Amino acid sequence: MNVTIRGRTSHFRTVAFDAEQNRVQLIEQRLLPHEFKMVATPDFRATARAIQDMIVRGAGAIGAAAAYGLAQGARAFRGRDLERFHRHVEAVYQTLKVARPTAVDPVNAMNQARITMKAGETVEEQQALALAAAEEFANHDVQHCEDIGRHGAKLIRSGMKVLTHCNAGWLAFVDIGSATAPMYAAQAQGKKFHVYCDETRPRSQGATLTAWELGQQGISHQIIADNAAGHLMQRGEIDLVIVGSDRTLGRTGEVANKIGTYTKAVLAKRHGIPFYVAIPLSTIDWNLRSGFKIPIEERHEDEVLGAWGITSRGRREYVRVANPGSSAFNAGFDVTPAELITGIITPAGIVKPKDLWAKRRQLGHAS
Ligand code: MRU
Repeated sequence: MNVTIRGRTSHFRTVAFDAEQNRVQLIEQRLLPHEFKMVATPDFRATARAIQDMIVRGAGAIGAAAAYGLAQGARAFRGRDLERFHRHVEAVYQTLKVARPTAVDPVNAMNQARITMKAGETVEEQQALALAAAEEFANHDVQHCEDIGRHGAKLIRSGMKVLTHCNAGWLAFVDIGSATAPMYAAQAQGKKFHVYCDETRPRSQGATLTAWELGQQGISHQIIADNAAGHLMQRGEIDLVIVGSDRTLGRTGEVANKIGTYTKAVLAKRHGIPFYVAIPLSTIDWNLRSGFKIPIEERHEDEVLGAWGITSRGRREYVRVANPGSSAFNAGFDVTPAELITGIITPAGIVKPKDLWAKRRQLGHAS
């Protein structure tokens, strides 16, 4: 996406790879919207930490970061012994896999890379194939988001007010985004609409990242407190909800997404407002048979007990908000059942959540 800083516009991908230095390049998302900075991870452990600490976050972006991290780890191996190489790659895979457990994109991306690597007969060939697979994942991610935009733009009419939750924008992917893709495509078609961004406590990805992205793109928007959506829906101020997903179950149509999504889906149902989920194919989990089996990441309680912000002197600081001595529970995601979802916007078209399994061949399932 194009980013304009102090009047200069440049194009960035959220995640990229420097093959010469064997480094993964990332936008330091924790500093946004106050500072735009690129960072590079020197090895796969640092890449896993960047995923865990949310330097890079969002399903597609951490999928690409994990795929590049796998290639980075594989390429750091010295020697020709294939058996030792495979043990090393397995350790790299496990390190990256546990960094963020709810999103399935990292696992899907790395599994595909490992299948691709099998075509190589030597360590060197497999190392090259790992990087090629990561590049392919990143390029597909961009293509999928573009296709989501094409299908989803039809849902947006001029004058609409659209609600989104968390950040499923280009920062959450390699480029373009999932939930934002229909917005960017509708804007390109000349449609004028307004977006409400849920603030999305505790980490405030809506207030910081989505608002910044939409501002960069010149889309009319306002941040609302997480508990304000019901009030707006009741007054007819929201026409459409579009969110992203970290894991969508292909067998049941259940959607894991940032905590608070389920609440918005219940509210949308109550008010008869269409509720859509936008996903690339790498977000589909074809194996799990129940949303209760999705591993829900629990993050540090400090995220709930306080907040990060910028002081008047431009310093980034954490302040404690909550009662001293109180503790907090901090689940990062929740699961929305299929019956609350109007449709899933995929790169292959808009599908009813219950129809995902029947359409699995079109949606990238192997059999
Ligand atoms: O914890 P995060 O910021 O990595 O959460 C991911 C999200 O931003 C959302 O849940 C998003 O809607 C899905 S990622 C495309």
